[in-house]
Order: sequence, then C-alpha cells, then structure tokens
Amino acid sequence: MNAFRVGLIGLGTVGQGVLRVLQRNAGEIAGRAGRRIVVTHAAMRDPARLRDCDLSGVQLGTDPMAVVNAEVDAVVELIGGISPARELVLAALQRGKPVVTANKALLAEHGNEIVESAGRNGAQLAYEAAVGGGIPIIKALREGLAGNSIDSLAGIINGTCNYILTQMTAKGQSFADALADAQKLGYAEADPTFDVEGIDAAHKLTILAAIAFGMPLRFEAVATEGISAVTAQDIQLAQELGYRIKSLGIAKRNSLGVELRVHPTLVPAGHLLAKTDGALNAIRVHGNAVGQTAYVGRGAGGDATASAVVADLVDVARLQGADPRHFVPYLGFRAEALRDKRALTFAEIESAYYLRLRVADEPGVLRAITSILAELDISIEAILQKEPREHEDATLAIITSQIPEHRCNGALEKMLQLPFVRPGASRLRVEHFE
Ligand code: NDP
Ligand code: HSE
Repeated sequence: MNAFRVGLIGLGTVGQGVLRVLQRNAGEIAGRAGRRIVVTHAAMRDPARLRDCDLSGVQLGTDPMAVVNAEVDAVVELIGGISPARELVLAALQRGKPVVTANKALLAEHGNEIVESAGRNGAQLAYEAAVGGGIPIIKALREGLAGNSIDSLAGIINGTCNYILTQMTAKGQSFADALADAQKLGYAEADPTFDVEGIDAAHKLTILAAIAFGMPLRFEAVATEGISAVTAQDIQLAQELGYRIKSLGIAKRNSLGVELRVHPTLVPAGHLLAKTDGALNAIRVHGNAVGQTAYVGRGAGGDATASAVVADLVDVARLQGADPRHFVPYLGFRAEALRDKRALTFAEIESAYYLRLRVADEPGVLRAITSILAELDISIEAILQKEPREHEDATLAIITSQIPEHRCNGALEKMLQLPFVRPGASRLRVEHFE
C-alpha cells in the first residue's frame, strides 16, 4: 500500500517532534495504521534555522499554502496563533483534506466555524495535542467516556504555569527565572502571557467543556485569572496550611448552567493534582456512570506533544476514504445535539477561600477580623498567624468554608477598611474535590 503522505506546516518544537516520532517508531506506526506515514512536504519561516530532526526526503519551503495545495493526504498545522493558521486550516478542509492541529487558540476562538467547515466538506479534523500535550484526554472524553454524563472536570492544563509554580515551591526560584527556563525548555507559548495569565488554559478548557458537556466552543465564557499575582509568601503559607498552589482549569455543570474557570487554586497537599509537578498535566474527570477518572502525563514539550499528533495521524490514515457519517463527531456530540449553556461569572460561583492579610501588630486585630467573618456567616476552617519581626506587620492567613464568592469579596472589602489592615491582601480559591 502507498505511504500516507503528510504536509507539515511548522517545524518548531512540536513539528520537529512529529518528524522524530514518525521516524523513530515508523515500523510500529505502520503496523497500527496499515501503511507507512511519511512527511513529504513541510513549511517553516526561516529555512536557515537548524532543525533537530532528519529532513531528508521532505520537500521544504516557506509558503504554508503550498503545503495545503501539495499532493498530501493530510495537513498538520503546527504554527500556532490565529492567522494565517485559520486560513490554512479552512483551505485544507475546503479541499476535503484531513487536518490535524495542536492549535488550541484557533480551536477555542474559531473552532465552531472550523468544525462546521469540516462537517460540510466531509473532512476529518483531529486535535488531540491541543489539550494536555501527550495525554489522550480528547479520545478519553469523546470515546472512552461516551456512556457517561460528565458532571465535572478539573485539572492542571498548562505545563508552563505548573513548571513555574513547582520551581517556586520546591526550589525557591523566582517567577521570572522559572518562566525563562520554561521558555528555554519549549513549554511556553510564543507569547508567554498566554500561559501565565491563564489564557492558554482557558483555550484548553473551552475545548474540554465543549466535548464534555455537548456545547459549542465558548471561549468568552471562561472566567480567567493568571498566576502572576501569586507570591512566594502565598506559596509558603499555603504549604504551612497543608495545601499546594496550582493553576487549575475547572468545568462544572449544575442546574444554573456551567462554571468554566481558570485560576490559581489551593489544593490539599495529598491530592493527585497537588502532587503533579513540573510540566506534567493532570486532569480529573467525573462521569455519572464511571465515577472519578484521572489522566496524567507530559503536558508540553516536543516529543510528548508529537505523540498526540501522530496518534491523530494514525486515526486519520485508518479512516481515509471512509464515509464521513462514520467519523467520531468532531466535538464528541453530533452537531444537531450540541446545546449552548449559560456560563456563571466568578461572582456567581461558590468556593472555599484563602485570605492573606498584612495587619498591624496590635491587640484586638484578630477579634475584629473574625467578627466580620461571623457577621457574614462565614466559618473559618483554618487560621495561621505569623508573628512579626520587630517593627514589622504581622501576617494572617485564613481558609474559609464554602461560600458564595460575592460574600467573600464583601468580607475582604470590610476587612480592608479596618485601620490596622494594610492594603495588598491576597484572595485565592480553595478546592477540596469533595
Ligand atoms: P514554535 O514557535 O516552536 O514553532 C512554530 C513553527 O511554525 C516554526 O517552525 C515557525 O517557523 C513556523 N511558522 C510560524 N509561522 C509560519 C508561517 N507563516 N509560515 C510557515 N511557517 C511558520 O511553536 P510550537 O511548536 O511550540 O507550537 C506549535 C503549536 O502547537 C501551537 O499551536 C502551540 O500552541 C501548540 N502546542 C505546543 C506545545 C508545546 O509544548 N510547545 C504543546 C501543545 C500544543 P520557524 O521555525 O522558521 O520560525
Ligand atoms: N504552552 C503550553 C503549556 C503548551 O505550557 O501547557 C502545551 O499546550
């Protein structure tokens, strides 16, 4: 049988990984796909740049549309960003060519248009690498858990943030140094603010929520907070209280609608997510038949992400020539079964909270603060008072019970009006996964 010919757009961290993995595991991949899978055409921006992969036999160029138009059986988009990625993907689908992409930004923000085009043109669209790097979470949700109604999922879905928080926690490294290392290791997005401000995780959560809950892709519905405001002191206090700080993506549904949120979160130190360190990702999914399931693995990096891209290529090669009605629906549910859902704002959610306050070292401070919490019917689950050094302020860290967020904000506002509470308090959400 003829080889399955791949056109690769982008020869960066992931693109080079795809070539390496296809070459390293060529025999087993052919055994699974029924034929060899080979990259015949590739495009990049800078042909002078050295690549860490064998490019022999690959027709190289700098025009990505030439790859779309070449005699290839599938197009793999690995340049990232919206334009020209969107135009390239739509052009390939319009020509009926299967598309494999790792581009979560493109899918989260333009995925409904892309899914519609794939359906109209009867072309395959695969995006396992867009969430969780090498973890097969898309396949697990779309196929493995298809018998369940998924009520919630939560996870570490940005390797860069997890790497930074791990380095700050375990090695006392500064935020800036840890981010620079994550960039060197190939984990970060081209613009790393996408990682640290939670935008990349929000892109991924958009995709997970669509396929878990059977809704269209709604990036604007994700409430997002980054990790840049998390301080070394918060990390230390959280540890003393028995927690680790992780950036989580959380999707839950209830009678009001869906909660879609990304934010730094205190997680009990013994929990799987608290123990997932470095660039690893971990996603916990709860289905009403199976109960709790968990998926852990490398969430970023060339070869790990290439593992997911190549798995998609095997699927696409196996299904070449099949009737599109037999494809797994792009978003897990058939297009006519997708239903939009109301998304709750941060103010509408309920959570437990960690509050850190800097207060004057005076008698009566603790009583005044606990009175505010009592007035607003907020129970204290834990409290930690750090005695000040001479002439310094004291620090108070409090973990509250589960309360509506607007009530927590009201309490914090009142506390900040007290004369002995200094500006610059911190408020983070706490998840107990009960
Ligand atoms: P890189 O920045 O390392 O690579 C991008 C590649 O695209 C480069 O080879 C670049 O060329 C090429 N490129 C960019 N624009 C053009 C253009 N207009 N025409 C031709 N080539 C172009 O990105 P990554 O490999 O890290 O990421 C690729 C995609 O995978 C992104 O969507 C990213 O979000 C996603 N992803 C990345 C992961 C990771 O761990 N890095 C993990 C999961 C998903 P040149 O090399 O010449 O500059
Ligand atoms: N920048 C992303 C991350 C790459 O750090 O998770 C993987 O999607």
